[in-house]
Amino acid sequence: MLTGIQHLHGTLRWVVLILMVFSIVKAFSGMSSGRSFGSGDYKRGLFTMISLHVQLLLGFILYFGKGWSSMLGNADAMADTIMRFFSLEHMVTMLLAVVLGTLGHSLAKRAEDDRTKFRRQAIWFTVSLVLILSSIPWPFRAGFEAYGWW
Ligand code: HEM
Ligand code: HEM
Repeated sequence: MLTGIQHLHGTLRWVVLILMVFSIVKAFSGMSSGRSFGSGDYKRGLFTMISLHVQLLLGFILYFGKGWSSMLGNADAMADTIMRFFSLEHMVTMLLAVVLGTLGHSLAKRAEDDRTKFRRQAIWFTVSLVLILSSIPWPFRAGFEAYGWW
C-alpha cells in the first residue's frame, strides 16, 4: 500500500511540473497581452493547486506511515543525507511550496482586475516551482540514485 502511494507520489511530480509550467507560461502571456482572465485561466490555476494538495496529502501519508517523522531531530538520522532530506528538507521546502502555490490560486481568485489575477498567478507559482525543483529527490543527486524518474 505505502509502496503504491510512493510510486503515485513520484509519478505525480510530472503532473505538478507540467501544470506549473503551463500555468506560469499562460499567466505571463496573459499579463503581457492584456487579455481578459477567463474561466480556463481560473481552472488551470485551480487544477495546479489541487495537484499540489494531492502531493501534500500523499507526502504526509508517506512521512508518517514510513517512519520519516520519527527521525526528525535524531542526531544520527540528521547526519545521514537521505534521512535528513526526507524527514526535514523535502518536507519543509515542499510544504512551503504548497502554501505559496495555494496562495497563487487563492490570491488570483480574490484580485479585482484581470492583470492582477495573472500577475499573482505568475509570481506565486514561479516561486513555488523554484522551491519544488530544488527539493525533488532527482536521481542525479549524489546518494539519490534509488529515487528514479517515475
Ligand atoms: C493534507 C491535505 C490537505 C490540506 C492541508 C489542504 C489545505 C487546503 C487549504 C488551506 C485550502 C484553502 C485555500 C484557499 O482558498 O485559500 C484548500 C482548498 C482546496 N483544496 Fe486542499 N488541502 C489538502 C488536500 C486536498 C486534496 C487531497 C484535494 C483534492 C483532491 C484538495 C482540493 C482542494 C480544493 C478543490 C480547494 C478549494 C480551491 C478553491 O479555492 O477554489 N485539497 N485546501
Ligand atoms: C509539489 C510537491 C511534491 C513533489 C513534486 C514531491 C516529489 C517527490 C518525489 C519525486 C519523491 C520520490 C519518490 C520515489 O521515487 O520514491 C518523493 C518522495 C517523498 N516525499 Fe515528496 N513531493 C512533494 C511534496 C511532499 C510533501 C509536502 C511531503 C510531506 C512530508 C512529502 C513527503 C515525501 C516522502 C516522505 C517521500 C519519501 C518516500 C520514501 O522513500 O519513503 N513530499 N517526493
